[in-house]
Amino acid sequence: MRIGVLTGGGDCPGLNSVIQAIVLRAAHYGFEVWGIEDGYKGLIEGRARPLRKEDVKGIHFIGGTILGTSRKNPAKSEEDMAKVMENVKKLGLDALIAIGGDDTLGAALKLYQRGLPIVGVPKTIDNDLSATDYSIGFWTAVETIADALEKLHTTAKSHKRVIIAEIMGRYAGWLALMGGLAGGAHVILIPEKPLDIDEVCRVIKERDEKGEGYTLIAVAEGVKIPETGELAVAAAEKDEFGHVRLGGIAKFLEEEIKRRTGREVRSTILGYIQRGGPPSAFDRVLGVRLGTKAVDLVKERKFGYAVVLRGTEIVPVKLEDVVGRPRYVPEGLFEYTDIFQES
Ligand code: F6P
Repeated sequence: MRIGVLTGGGDCPGLNSVIQAIVLRAAHYGFEVWGIEDGYKGLIEGRARPLRKEDVKGIHFIGGTILGTSRKNPAKSEEDMAKVMENVKKLGLDALIAIGGDDTLGAALKLYQRGLPIVGVPKTIDNDLSATDYSIGFWTAVETIADALEKLHTTAKSHKRVIIAEIMGRYAGWLALMGGLAGGAHVILIPEKPLDIDEVCRVIKERDEKGEGYTLIAVAEGVKIPETGELAVAAAEKDEFGHVRLGGIAKFLEEEIKRRTGREVRSTILGYIQRGGPPSAFDRVLGVRLGTKAVDLVKERKFGYAVVLRGTEIVPVKLEDVVGRPRYVPEGLFEYTDIFQES
C-alpha cells in the first residue's frame, strides 16, 4: 500500500505532527508514504517524494508543514482534475490523505466522487468546521494571541491608550473570542455579533471615568463595518476558492473611536504571527491522534471520510458531512465578549 499525503490551504502549527504520525503508523503496517509538495498544486504537477521515518524525525515540534502548501483548487478546471487522477496513477498511490480546512476537504470530496480513495484530516486555526470540536492549529493560535494581548496590555496601560488588536478567523469569531478571553481583552468584537461603535465608546469612557486609564480591544478580521455592512478587505482579488483577503477593520475602528471620543487610539494587526511557531501540546497530541486514525481508515479502506475530534474521541465522519458546514460562535457565548469590561 502506498499512501500520498498533502497539506492544503493556510499552514498552521500541528501539521507536521499529523504528517509524522501518518508515516509512523503507515510504517507499522508496512505501508509506504509519499509526501505531495505544495498541496494540490504539487499533485497537479506530479511533485512528490518518499517520506520515510528518518525524513520526519523531530518534525513533531516544528510549526508549518514540511510538505509546503498552496491555495490551489484542483476542482476549478477539468484539466487539473484529470491531471490529479493521472498523477495519482503515475505515482502509484493507493490512497491519499488530504489535510486541510473546508476548501481542501471540499476538493477532496470532489476527487473522492471521481473515484479517488481519499481520507481527510481537518485543520484550520479558524476552528470554523462544525464537524470537529477543534481543528489542529486553533489552540496554538489562541495561545499566540493571548501572549500578544498580554504584551499589548502593558504598552496600552503605560501610554493610557486605547489599543485595538485585529485577529484572524475569516468569517468566524472563535480566535478573537478565545484569544481575547485568554488575553483579558476588555472588549471582544466578533462577526457573529453586530458591531455597535457607540457601545464600544461608552465602555472606553466608562473605563476612563473609573480611572482604569486604558482599554484593550480584540476585533475579529471578519467584523463588518456597521454603516455599509461590508467586510474590511486588505486585497480584493479572490483566491481560487473565492475568498478575498480580509484586513483593515482595526484601522477603521481606530479612526472612528478617535473621532467619536477624542481618545488616543492605536491599532495593530496580529497577522501571520498567529499561524506560526511550534504547536502547543494540545495540537501535537491532536495531530498524532488524527494522523494515526487517518492511516487506520486507509487500512480499513474506509474512503470518503475525515477523522474528527468529538468530545475525547477521534471518529470518522463522511466528507460530505464535513464540507460546507461552517461553525460560528453561538449566541450562548456572546456574554463572554464583555466579561473583562470592568477589569
Ligand atoms: O484560514 C486561515 C487564515 O489564516 C484566516 O484566518 C485568514 O483570513 C486567511 O487564512 C489568510 O489567508 P492567506 O494566507 O491566503 O493570506
